[in-house]
Amino acid sequence: MSLPPARMRVVTETARRVPLPAIRRETVFDVRDVGVHYGPKPALAGVTLKIERNVVTAIIGPSGCGKSTFLRSLNRMNDAVPGFRIGGQVLYHGHDVYGGGVDRVEVRRRIGMVFQKPNPFPKSIFDNVAWAPRNLGLRAGLSERVEQALRGAALWDEVKDRLKQSALGLSGGQQQRLCIARAIAVEPDVLLLDEPASALDPIATAAIEELMHSLKRRYTIVIVTHNMQQAARVADRTAFFSLDDQRTGALVEYDATETIFTQPADPRTRDYVSGRFG
Ligand SMILES: Nc1ncnc2c1ncn2[C@@H]1O[C@H](COP(=O)(O)OP(=O)(O)O)[C@@H](O)[C@H]1O
Ligand SMILES: [Mg+2]
Repeated sequence: MSLPPARMRVVTETARRVPLPAIRRETVFDVRDVGVHYGPKPALAGVTLKIERNVVTAIIGPSGCGKSTFLRSLNRMNDAVPGFRIGGQVLYHGHDVYGGGVDRVEVRRRIGMVFQKPNPFPKSIFDNVAWAPRNLGLRAGLSERVEQALRGAALWDEVKDRLKQSALGLSGGQQQRLCIARAIAVEPDVLLLDEPASALDPIATAAIEELMHSLKRRYTIVIVTHNMQQAARVADRTAFFSLDDQRTGALVEYDATETIFTQPADPRTRDYVSGRFG
């Protein structure tokens, strides 16, 4: 008994070349036509961009162009600033961050923030990292949680024998990594970092940059930096902001970091990245 002939699949080089579907990345923030005022003066206008999951997005641009304003608008850190008003929409996983009924505490937990100057509490290393989990009532497994956060921030080996000592005794770079540990201790989705290395020496800066690469596997990272080399080293995507003719901050160009630095579409970006202004 003979087997039926195997059905032949003739795959010719040309006939079957169907393009693969584009890699569709998940959008974490869908920012639509966002403008910010502090009092009567607009600080930022017309910003529209999407921030993707598990990538590092850098915000670059000259001083005063609204980088911090933009970043702080993503997790409502500006709400307490007198005269702050925001227009447009900030959608976080499709939900309007400024919509009615949004729990601001939950927003800050999901979208953590690290500032330019390390700002540890005058407490022990352990209590710094345990502070936010305790506040949220996450008391079970607290020691493990603190350890995981310190490991995640690449600080554990340096501090594991001195967890009860004051955080203020750490070096600047260690303090900044402690602040990152503090942010990740509540398992956020996003980390916003506003010039996190600008107060640090080159070695501590390199440690923070290194950390960005490992953190992006778990978190979506948005980092403001005025250091272009830093953006080029750490970011997958880069947004260049500048001041328009009315000296209002605006998004000029947003693209893959390599494109921004090697083939920018806008002459203003070209001038900035080539060091001609700013
Ligand atoms: N808390 C604030 N109150 C009033 N104006 C502010 C405040 N923060 C920022 N601004 C103004 O908004 C503009 C953008 O500032 P900022 O977002 O800090 O820029 P960048 O971070 O790019 O240097 C500037 O004109 C600044 O003076
Ligand atoms: Mg700033």
